[in-house]
Amino acid sequence: CGIVGYIGDKDAYPILVNGLKRLEYRGYDSAGIALRTNQTQVFKCKGKVKDLEDHVKGHDISGSIGIGHTRWATHGEPNDENAHPHRSMNNKFVIIHNGIIENYAFLKEKLVKRGYTFQSETDTEVLANLIEYIYLKGEVTAEIAVRLALTKVVGAYGLVVICEDEPNQLIAARKGSPLVVGVGNGEYFLASDATPIIEYTQSVIYLNDDDVAIINRDELVLKTLQNDKLTPHVQQLDLDIEQIEKGGYEHFMLKEIFEQTSSIHDTIRGRVSPQNKEVFLGGINDVIPKLVNARRILIIGCGTSWHAGMVGEYLFEEFARIPVEVEYASEFRYRNPVIFEDDIVLAISQSGETADTLAAIKLAKEAGATVLGICNVVGSSIPRETDAGVYTHAGPEIGVASTKAFTAQVTVLTMMAMLVGYRKGTLEKEEYHKLIEEFSHLPEKIAKILEKDQDIKELSKRYIESTNALYLGRGFLFPVALEGALKLKEISYIHAEGYPAAEMKHGPIALIDEHMPVFVAATKDKSYEKIVSNIQEVKARKGHVIAIVTEGDTVIADMADYVIEIPETLEALAPLLTVVPFQLISYYIAVLRGCNVDQPRNLAKSVTVE
Ligand code: G6P
Repeated sequence: CGIVGYIGDKDAYPILVNGLKRLEYRGYDSAGIALRTNQTQVFKCKGKVKDLEDHVKGHDISGSIGIGHTRWATHGEPNDENAHPHRSMNNKFVIIHNGIIENYAFLKEKLVKRGYTFQSETDTEVLANLIEYIYLKGEVTAEIAVRLALTKVVGAYGLVVICEDEPNQLIAARKGSPLVVGVGNGEYFLASDATPIIEYTQSVIYLNDDDVAIINRDELVLKTLQNDKLTPHVQQLDLDIEQIEKGGYEHFMLKEIFEQTSSIHDTIRGRVSPQNKEVFLGGINDVIPKLVNARRILIIGCGTSWHAGMVGEYLFEEFARIPVEVEYASEFRYRNPVIFEDDIVLAISQSGETADTLAAIKLAKEAGATVLGICNVVGSSIPRETDAGVYTHAGPEIGVASTKAFTAQVTVLTMMAMLVGYRKGTLEKEEYHKLIEEFSHLPEKIAKILEKDQDIKELSKRYIESTNALYLGRGFLFPVALEGALKLKEISYIHAEGYPAAEMKHGPIALIDEHMPVFVAATKDKSYEKIVSNIQEVKARKGHVIAIVTEGDTVIADMADYVIEIPETLEALAPLLTVVPFQLISYYIAVLRGCNVDQPRNLAKSVTVE
């Protein structure tokens, strides 16, 4: 979900709506705002921010204090009532909230006993009423009521509250769900990430867990829940507005696919030096000796980041001979995992906010392991929670389906594995230098693949009626098959599965017929002969094969129904190239099917609930 807030002397409405549009990628099943004039007005409805704009037409939308929210449903289906903001029963408080109040049923029961009734099914309304109950019963200030209420809450929240009796103030609090305050001149902005803020100010304060900010037009007071005053730490953002706009592309996703030529460059800039033939990762320099001596690495992540982690497994085992386990953060944290003090835990996350990944990090830290992060969003929660880490520097990723963040994550993992392997002596100098040299050619090789964009669009037309698809790969390219399948299903709603090519005969082969497109990552590497056999197995069952092959490959070209040639590269770097055609295929199939590729149904970019 996304949160925005404004307090200052400008009209709040345009700032809030603009901000909500920038945040819409975080959740988009309903939207709402509250504006403070003589009293607080709430407008909210199911649907997108656009629907909200239609909804407020003809109403008074003045006011220079306000809050806004886009929702990704957790408690209660997306409808008008469940949309935020929520009011407390006696209209004393209006609140927007991200996260989940886990003990909401218990709190609700208590409030019902005290005469409270509820309009929605949300946990947020429970919180609004709890704050109000404490406020009225205890005759305390709004700030005290908010702090006391939050001490009774189990769960996660990022929230902003307006109190009817204290109209010139916003109260914001955070635990486990991000909040950023933009500091302007006589005005403050609030948001769940920096994207709605950067057009107004580059000065921000990131709230930490258990922080409460009491914000007036000209003052911000930061406290703990226990009322200890804190000194706000104002930071300067390094983002500009072009980075979060579409720049002439039809969709963010297409822009981000095309940005991979430069984003990979940004990821390696200052870190890989072909002149000195060195890899240098400043963020983890001090822990390299630990990595060199590591008995084991645990990689955790969710979604696409988990796929990047799987490539990481192959890389660390190949170059550094360190055993690696790749875990879904959600499974890892609830499984009573075995974590040793000398384990290195590597958490991968584009947003740096994924709730399960954050929780898994905390668990690993408690167990005494060294926790490193690979994240894209600078200043987000995971980098602040980890012992050290490497930013991917891919720039803001707005499309919900991850593309450039994946290649950036794999790039960082490759650099790390190379460096550790070289220091450890398991990666020969000659090989290390070959990799470094090849790194500098990746952007131009990706550009060459992107030149095939229109051919891939043509090809994609054939599959818009498909109901299923299979993606196959071996070795380094098996995670790419998983990622290819994920890309297709999340944006086109075509069911797709990724499989290790050899495993196909243990199940998925039963599904193959002439209607089933089978996408195979089959570039030249040590298992090339094997994958050629797998393609034959598919063809023998009249399957329809689309293969990503190395330039000049005539063997597969003769067998497959369609081949997409990509430039030759080193085996360990092949995931970075082979994934690009898969991204484009999914994009075009989804667009041609009329799907909203940037905001696919039911998905959210940043999953801050578990
Ligand atoms: C969501 C997004 C995915 C992403 C996953 C993990 O499901 O839609 O694109 O891969 O979360 O997010 P993270 O920010 O931790 O990489």
